[in-house]
Amino acid sequence: MNEWTDVASVTDIRPGTCQAFVAAGVAVVVFNLEGHFFCLEDCCSHDGAELSSGEMDSGEIICPRHGARFDIRTGAVCTPPAYENIQVVPVRSNNGMVQIKQ
Ligand code: FES
Repeated sequence: MNEWTDVASVTDIRPGTCQAFVAAGVAVVVFNLEGHFFCLEDCCSHDGAELSSGEMDSGEIICPRHGARFDIRTGAVCTPPAYENIQVVPVRSNNGMVQIKQ
């Protein structure tokens, strides 16, 4: 997928929440941090858990399986047991829609 694709209305993902999507066969999770959207692949680098099922805390997502934390803005791993970053997916809001590109 090389074009921007609508995945949701901007009002569907409220600040402080996230929502999972499958786009072009890839599971992704879109986060709303204080009105700004960020998107990561929805797969923990430790053991493949869905990050979208985790809790958001202070700009980080906590993996629901073993508790690794990742920076929502950059995908950078913050705490073990994960040691690899999460792939960032380009995201934007455009004409009231959240769009991603992979
Ligand atoms: S699967 Fe995410 S920390 Fe283990």
